[in-house]
Amino acid sequence: MSSKEQVNDLFTQTVDDWARYYDDPAPATLTAQNFVSRRRFAIQLIEARLPKGSKILDVGCGTGHLAAELARRGYDTWGTDLSAGMVEYARTNYNQDRYQVGDIEKIPFPDNFFDGIVCLGVVEYLANDDAALSEMHRVLRPGGFAVITTPSSVCPFFYLDRALVRTRFAVRPAIGVVRRMLGGAQPPAQPFPKVQHRRYRKGSWSKLMQSHGLQLDDWVCHAWGCYAVERFFPQGAFCRASDKFARNGLINWIASDQLSCVRAVK
Ligand SMILES: C[S@@+](CC[C@H](N)C(=O)[O-])C[C@H]1O[C@@H](n2cnc3c(N)ncnc32)[C@H](O)[C@@H]1O
Repeated sequence: MSSKEQVNDLFTQTVDDWARYYDDPAPATLTAQNFVSRRRFAIQLIEARLPKGSKILDVGCGTGHLAAELARRGYDTWGTDLSAGMVEYARTNYNQDRYQVGDIEKIPFPDNFFDGIVCLGVVEYLANDDAALSEMHRVLRPGGFAVITTPSSVCPFFYLDRALVRTRFAVRPAIGVVRRMLGGAQPPAQPFPKVQHRRYRKGSWSKLMQSHGLQLDDWVCHAWGCYAVERFFPQGAFCRASDKFARNGLINWIASDQLSCVRAVK
């Protein structure tokens, strides 16, 4: 199975989880709060630059909630996603005509069609960024804006998470033995396909976008917290509180999720 098919599989299996993440505007968990915050920052970045009525594409739209919210706020929106399951959900729940299956590396729209693009949580699943960036640049009109999110490679919480996960894996066989001795159940096997998930540094990422005609206009970095201990410490409130620092360049680099707002130069 190719890595794109694995990504498709993963998201098709998790449509209901993605639909639920946005139910609560102040969720208890770090995971859900990260998504809720990033969606809010993306809306702010778009609203600060593009008037109502502008044409916006949500590429990698998942369940379609963001395109629907932008439509509710007066934008003319479309959504595309690799996963037919996600698109089906969006068409059933939001708009039958405005969502379609499509690959970010081959966006199914003509040149210069959109005033804006939102692309949240997508590029990190690709093998590389060149085709996706070229395509976003192609479908944006000159001077149009894109909000693209990436996971940070310098976030200290990520390294702490990685150390904790490795420790857990190292002691897992011992935990299994103790559980068996006590007659307990085995830990569940990993239920979803494991997919590649790349991380980004601001400097090299902005240079790459620039080389595709996408000039950095604004930068927001949010979501503090440790995913490895989320089961015991949900951290939603902590993550929400840390949003105050999302635009503070002295400290925001410690956060895990980056939003780059770029302008298409043509
Ligand atoms: C982490 S989810 C984010 C969904 C949505 N943007 C959100 O913020 O809720 C990533 C989405 O990107 C989609 N995706 C992954 N690779 C893609 C590709 N090559 N082209 C289009 N969509 C893709 C997945 O199917 C999935 O729905």
